[in-house]
Amino acid sequence: MKHLISIDQYNYQSLHTLFEKVDKEEYGFIETSYPKKGQIATLFYEPSTRTSASFHSAATQLGYSVLSINEVNYSSVTKGETLEDTIKTIGSYVDLIVLRHGEKGASKRAASISQVPIINAGDGIGEHPTQTLLDLYTIWKEKSKIDGLNITLMGDLKNGRTVHSLIKILRLFNVHINLISPSSLKLPNEYLKHSDQESTQFLPYAATTDVLYVTRVQKERGSKEEYKLSLSELNQLPKTAIVLHPLPRRKELPITFDNDPRAKYFQQIKNGLLVRKALLRQFLENN
Ligand code: NCD
Repeated sequence: MKHLISIDQYNYQSLHTLFEKVDKEEYGFIETSYPKKGQIATLFYEPSTRTSASFHSAATQLGYSVLSINEVNYSSVTKGETLEDTIKTIGSYVDLIVLRHGEKGASKRAASISQVPIINAGDGIGEHPTQTLLDLYTIWKEKSKIDGLNITLMGDLKNGRTVHSLIKILRLFNVHINLISPSSLKLPNEYLKHSDQESTQFLPYAATTDVLYVTRVQKERGSKEEYKLSLSELNQLPKTAIVLHPLPRRKELPITFDNDPRAKYFQQIKNGLLVRKALLRQFLENN
């Protein structure tokens, strides 16, 4: 794998191999290497907290330095520089580029001309494969399996890229999928399968859900309809269920649920660092 552009690049076997490596990261130590092993760039055309910070941490913990361009407004992008020229430029300084961009397909475009590996950290309403890897890893760790689970995806299924990548990879498993969203924010047909249950209501699905994955309204992509879950609705979930959210959250998940043992969205963040360390090792060190 030269670049990581889409979750489609993974299969059952390569996921398994990756997850075994992530497990090892958990018990790993912080490597300090002098001189530094090399450098990665985080090039973000859209806002980010967790994705950029976790790649930054992962890289520095492995002994790499980071060129972070998180505010492209201060770069030549405002002078009209193309994505291609920017990638060629940054790629002359670093060993790998983590790219977030507002256009679907931007990472693919970047990869087609880049001399260094590109990792897609979100391309518009397209995909967010590294988020999906940490989502799936979290499910696997928390439930000890993926096959056989009843998974409810709820929120802005139309414009949320994390859901788009996640549902693609879930197709590799024998899972039952419920899709809960306001009617204007339904999952696009290209991701839909006839066995999926679609609804605007959460409650009828609560009691049978093993994994609830909630996302926020993507206002910046034109989504308007609001929704939120109440504590009493969340309490209808089985005691063994888990609740995930890629974050940031708005009003869809009440903070009063945060201390419930089923709330795993902060664990997801921790897993994100481990997954990204394993990925950087794979891309930069071939192991
Ligand atoms: C997500 C994203 O950027 O798509 N954030 C993240 O990386 N954790 C989700 C979102 O912004 O809603």
